[in-house]
Amino acid sequence: MAEAEAGEAPGPRPLRFAARTGWDLSENRLASVLAAARRAGRALVDFTEANPTRCGIVDAAPLVARLGEPRGCRYAPLPLGDPGARAAVSRYYQERGLDVPPENVVLTASTSEAYGWLLKLLAERGDDVLVPVPSYPLLEFLACLEDVALTPYPLVREEGWRIDLGALERAAGERTRAVVLVHPNNPTGSFVRRDEAAALEALALERGLALIVDEVFGDYAHGDLAPDRLPSFAGRRQALTFVLSGLSKVMALPQLKLGWIAVSGPPELAAAAVARLEIIADTYLSVGTPVQLALPEILAARAPVQRAIQARVRANLAALDAAIAAHGGGAVRRLPVDGGWYATLEVPRVLDEDGWVELLVRDEGAIVHPGYFFDMPRDGFLVVGLLLEPAVFVEAAARLAARLSRAISGG
Ligand SMILES: Cc1ncc(COP(=O)(O)O)c(C=O)c1O
Repeated sequence: MAEAEAGEAPGPRPLRFAARTGWDLSENRLASVLAAARRAGRALVDFTEANPTRCGIVDAAPLVARLGEPRGCRYAPLPLGDPGARAAVSRYYQERGLDVPPENVVLTASTSEAYGWLLKLLAERGDDVLVPVPSYPLLEFLACLEDVALTPYPLVREEGWRIDLGALERAAGERTRAVVLVHPNNPTGSFVRRDEAAALEALALERGLALIVDEVFGDYAHGDLAPDRLPSFAGRRQALTFVLSGLSKVMALPQLKLGWIAVSGPPELAAAAVARLEIIADTYLSVGTPVQLALPEILAARAPVQRAIQARVRANLAALDAAIAAHGGGAVRRLPVDGGWYATLEVPRVLDEDGWVELLVRDEGAIVHPGYFFDMPRDGFLVVGLLLEPAVFVEAAARLAARLSRAISGG
């Protein structure tokens, strides 16, 4: 004002972006090492490959072709999703003995979007949700975009990734709105135990919390689950529960962009949650019509797809174990997993995790995740994905195990 009074035109005001996306995108040390290896034209084997459409497991063409249905030419959006598609998700649970009626299914474009909607539904700005550590680092960004804080709770490695319920209870504060579970967890592959689920539901009731359960890998147990493990939270009635999943992992078709939320809990509360989710869904209408119309047929075709993925993952896990055993085992240990698409290696701390990753890229052209990417409890872990073509995986796993073994014995 003083300047204007003095007759000077005010200078242009600089445009400012909201802090929400002010992330540090500078290249970290590993990204630089990788970029250098690529520039040098090195042949790389990417054990972190998580995109199933690049791993030659499933012929997606006949499934994708189902999106060509002429009814998909018409746009008549329903916020919670096409009734036939919601019924197909309900059937998917019913076929596993889980009761999720179609009216409790909310379609989304992905599991990531489902998380975003649930944070909008449950949390005011500055509220928090409890998240497992270690786990997949997806929530950090989603929560930041919703102005929600994350409070970690630990999984105890020495006890088969048991939830530290005491720590979780202490972490739940006045502004905590939900507990997130990744079930089975990524990358630990651990399913929640039945007694943990019951304790969490009791806590949720007592503290007014919802449970958000990411079950994207729920169909990928390695064989029969131990009886103390809970196969799924879908349809449970005790606490308000949101089970998330979608085509990205259930059908290995992330490009179709269809996920869902299966809502359960005390019936009135579940119905109120669905009604409010409908408001959010109506604001975006984000799920494409063709994929919704094709969903019943796509989900009905899941058995051979999942068999092929399970066979791939188990064969690669066996190859990894064989490679470790062939090089003396002992110093390198593959941690037990109940399911999922990943394996975690515990390695001696003669190098830090970045050091191990760099060594493997430099000497073997093998890319693995450092454990800290998933917030492992301490240094000394490497994570490998299990989706690669077996011919590539077997040969590269043998080289990886050999190089680890040499480095451990001082070479
Ligand atoms: C545990 C977990 N949840 C969610 C996602 C994201 O799934 P979507 O593609 O449905 O957003 C991933 C992706 O890898 C994941 O590992």
